[in-house]
Amino acid sequence: MATMTAVAFVGLGAMGGRMARRLVDAGYQVTVWNRTAARCEPLVALGAQAAESPAAAAARADVTITMVSDPAALWEVSEGPEGIAAGIDHSATLIEMSTIGPAGVTRLATMLPDGVVVLDAPVLGSVSEAEAGDLGIFVGGPPESVERWRPLLSTLGSPRRVGPTGAGAAAKLTANLTLLGVLGVLGEAIALAQGMGLSREATFEVLSATPLGAQAERRRDAIETGSFPPRFALSLARKDADLILDAAAAAGVDMGLSRAARDWLVEAEAAGLGDQDYTAVLAHITGND
Ligand SMILES: NC(=O)c1ccc[n+]([C@@H]2O[C@H](COP(=O)([O-])OP(=O)(O)OC[C@H]3O[C@@H](n4cnc5c(N)ncnc54)[C@H](OP(=O)(O)O)[C@@H]3O)[C@@H](O)[C@H]2O)c1
Repeated sequence: MATMTAVAFVGLGAMGGRMARRLVDAGYQVTVWNRTAARCEPLVALGAQAAESPAAAAARADVTITMVSDPAALWEVSEGPEGIAAGIDHSATLIEMSTIGPAGVTRLATMLPDGVVVLDAPVLGSVSEAEAGDLGIFVGGPPESVERWRPLLSTLGSPRRVGPTGAGAAAKLTANLTLLGVLGVLGEAIALAQGMGLSREATFEVLSATPLGAQAERRRDAIETGSFPPRFALSLARKDADLILDAAAAAGVDMGLSRAARDWLVEAEAAGLGDQDYTAVLAHITGND
């Protein structure tokens, strides 16, 4: 079945490159496009085809997958004469897997030709989960379309339908709010303990007896060595904080804690940590950057 399905994959970054590779390995006919063309080469060596433009990639495909940084990047690959919307067939499906928020999914759906089914399927997990096909996938869209593409999505992880189109993006922002909020609270707890003169040992001992115990343990090594190997860029986490606040404003929901978590990320980015892993915000909050 996999070999008969033509897939276009647009966006071969840290996540997309690994996800596209899994689809090639599973036997799908994959056509790839990436802004920096060199990133297509390893996939072409494995049997994928490279297209000249997102439009050309989408034109060959039963299903087009997008995995780019942010809404601006998505408009870049979707709009205009070279964009996906110009090439995609009206009977095709587009699966949007970046983190762009529900408003972005709505905008994407309106720019595509009538008949194109849009599923939003953003992911939980990072590069190692992408490589292992172990991502959590929140899917929004019509049930029959989600069922149609479940085998393909299962090559990438565990798809879970959470509602109509847009619900996947909403679920992803909900999940990421907790990640960003918890990091902010953890950083401030460590900073306060440090400020009050508590030893590092005592700090982690007390944290282990709190709801943040697992996070504190998981991040301890990076905090102590000051090394935050990039998996999920801090600049992308700041983008997610912006999306969370935009979605909250649209829904009329007040977000004091998320605003504060965003402020930490904005400051850390301004301090030059944007390309580091998002957990480097802990170094910034604790004054160790
Ligand atoms: N990394 C993670 O752990 C993780 C986990 C869950 C979700 N996500 C989400 O998944 C998405 C991708 O993340 P990633 O870590 O793979 O990011 P990444 O490594 O920075 O890759 C970003 C991709 O977007 C492309 N891109 C950026 N701006 C563009 C533009 N203006 N026009 C065309 N293409 C553009 C890049 O192309 P170039 O190669 O030319 O730069 C690259 O293919 C993001 O929405 C992120 O929030 C990431």
